[in-house]
Amino acid sequence: MQTELSNQLGVEHAVFGFTPFPAVAAAISRAGGFGVLGAVRYTAPDELKRDLDWIEAHVDGRPYGLDVVMPAKKVEGVTEADVEAMIPEAHRDFVRETLVKHGVPELAEGEASGWRITGWMEQVARTQLDVAFDYPIRLLANALGSPPADVVARAHDQGVLVAALAGSARHARKHKDAGIDVVVAQGYEAGGHTGEIASMVLTPEVVEAVDPLPVLAAGGIGSGQQVAAALALGAQGVWLGSVWLTTTEADLHSPALTRKLLAAGSGDTVRSRALTGKPARQLRTEWTDAWDDPDGPGTLPMPLQGLLVAEAVSRIQKYEVEPLLGTPVGQIVGRMNSERSVQAVFDDLTRGFERAVDRVNRIAGRSGQ
Ligand SMILES: Cc1cc2nc3c(=O)[nH]c(=O)nc-3n(C[C@H](O)[C@H](O)[C@H](O)COP(=O)(O)O)c2cc1C
Repeated sequence: MQTELSNQLGVEHAVFGFTPFPAVAAAISRAGGFGVLGAVRYTAPDELKRDLDWIEAHVDGRPYGLDVVMPAKKVEGVTEADVEAMIPEAHRDFVRETLVKHGVPELAEGEASGWRITGWMEQVARTQLDVAFDYPIRLLANALGSPPADVVARAHDQGVLVAALAGSARHARKHKDAGIDVVVAQGYEAGGHTGEIASMVLTPEVVEAVDPLPVLAAGGIGSGQQVAAALALGAQGVWLGSVWLTTTEADLHSPALTRKLLAAGSGDTVRSRALTGKPARQLRTEWTDAWDDPDGPGTLPMPLQGLLVAEAVSRIQKYEVEPLLGTPVGQIVGRMNSERSVQAVFDDLTRGFERAVDRVNRIAGRSGQ
């Protein structure tokens, strides 16, 4: 599974893995792919530094990258307290009532919510970058738009490739105009923030729109056959996020959530604004149903919704309140049916890829060549 881009980065497989877990990122790179650590949850620079040190110590010299979330629409000069003040009381009541209805216990006195919105604020993403540029990262990805010009220039000065996610050919063209090096075409099926165009349609559209820039196909990929399909559509690699959530290296802190993921089918996700205020694909739960119910108060825009639900999400996760317990995950969750090591995922990907290539060669009458 080698392409120009994987050769440029010096990796064996053109398989890029987004993950919030350092142990998974390092394992992906060790397995011959390219691990990308999601930085959005790091609000303290020291924690990011600690985890990048850990990756450095465990990646066996293989290349890896970092993913930040700098929204295209800036939230500048605004503190968390300012955002808090914008949240209507009726929405706070709705959160309280929903938690009471499901008997969700309170956090202990002084226990901070583990999930904050600040990683989406440009100034926080910039502190993450100040830390990350001291490490030999080879790729910097941005989730919600093109990174600002000075960030692209700084990355290029340090020899770091810049990638950005796109849910449409229009977004992809904007990235090209902004000097981005690699476009991640992320389809509707994907876990996390996602657009409305399915990967099968999106990938070739983006490949054509940004030619000759390399494109990574994302969304709905969990097998080697799907990798082969993405490469056949013109992608120079694949970008996988969901599949790592049920690897043995992942640290979801919740056996109940792992069980839910392993049991879920491909129809058990929903694209909902419940988590962040922007449409993000996640497990469908009674929590997403409550927010998506036309009789409810509806969700607030980003970043208000994220702040509104931050503590509630922490409580639901901590106490593993099963009907409400969810996570961003894509439709490929239907194929995530057993816990495997990251290496085992790679072994399955390479085997499936070879089978797909053999099959197409047979169909094309090229067997044995
Ligand atoms: C739990 C989870 C969290 C995610 N968080 C981010 C994020 O912070 N930044 C980002 O660029 N993409 C994020 N994504 C999207 C992935 O980068 C990736 O595009 C997507 O998972 C690919 O589709 P798949 O889920 O079908 O593999 C997230 C995905 C998941 C499953």
